[in-house]
Amino acid sequence: MNLRDVIPTAENSTNFNVVPESITEVGTTLDNLKAAVMGETGASAKYAACALAAKAQGYDQIARLFEATSAAEQIHIGLEAGVIQSVEPDYERPAAPDAEGIATDLNLIAGALGEIYETSDMYPSFIKVAQEEGDKKAEFVFTRAKLAEAVHAELYMDAYNNIDCPDNDAYYLCPICGYIHKGDDFEKCPICFTPADKFRKF
Ligand SMILES: [Fe+2]
Ligand SMILES: [Fe+2]
Repeated sequence: MNLRDVIPTAENSTNFNVVPESITEVGTTLDNLKAAVMGETGASAKYAACALAAKAQGYDQIARLFEATSAAEQIHIGLEAGVIQSVEPDYERPAAPDAEGIATDLNLIAGALGEIYETSDMYPSFIKVAQEEGDKKAEFVFTRAKLAEAVHAELYMDAYNNIDCPDNDAYYLCPICGYIHKGDDFEKCPICFTPADKFRKF
């Protein structure tokens, strides 16, 4: 993802449209925040299981990618749960479901499909409702997650295409928004402008 002069938002970006055959069930923004936390909780658990599977199958770099994406989804859960708790202080985050990985190539494809769904259907749908409700906080966290998920999909497809010729690059996770950069050739997060030295290395 290239660095822009301004932090990307739903207002200054042109890739926030919802796919025509949307399958997202949309409720109020509070409902949508809870649905997003549920979805991210499942994704995080799934990716942690995929990391273990990748390691067992000898794909060390892909195991690190899944560890980074699993941690990224936890960041999204924290952002979204924080907005929920600002209106519903007793809200408790759902428990992680059981999850297991299969063959690593198929785990990467399944992961990319899930990320594409989130970035092109779920989050843009939720952003639209948040805008209609004038909920700036929800719009902000949904936007950051939406932008990060597209990069996760890209990284999964990159790993899929290079599964038999990996390099030694590390993955770096932005602790603020869940963006992940492959390799150390970057200065700051293209989504939230957090400097590279604050990133977590996998
Ligand atoms: Fe993701
Ligand atoms: Fe970031």
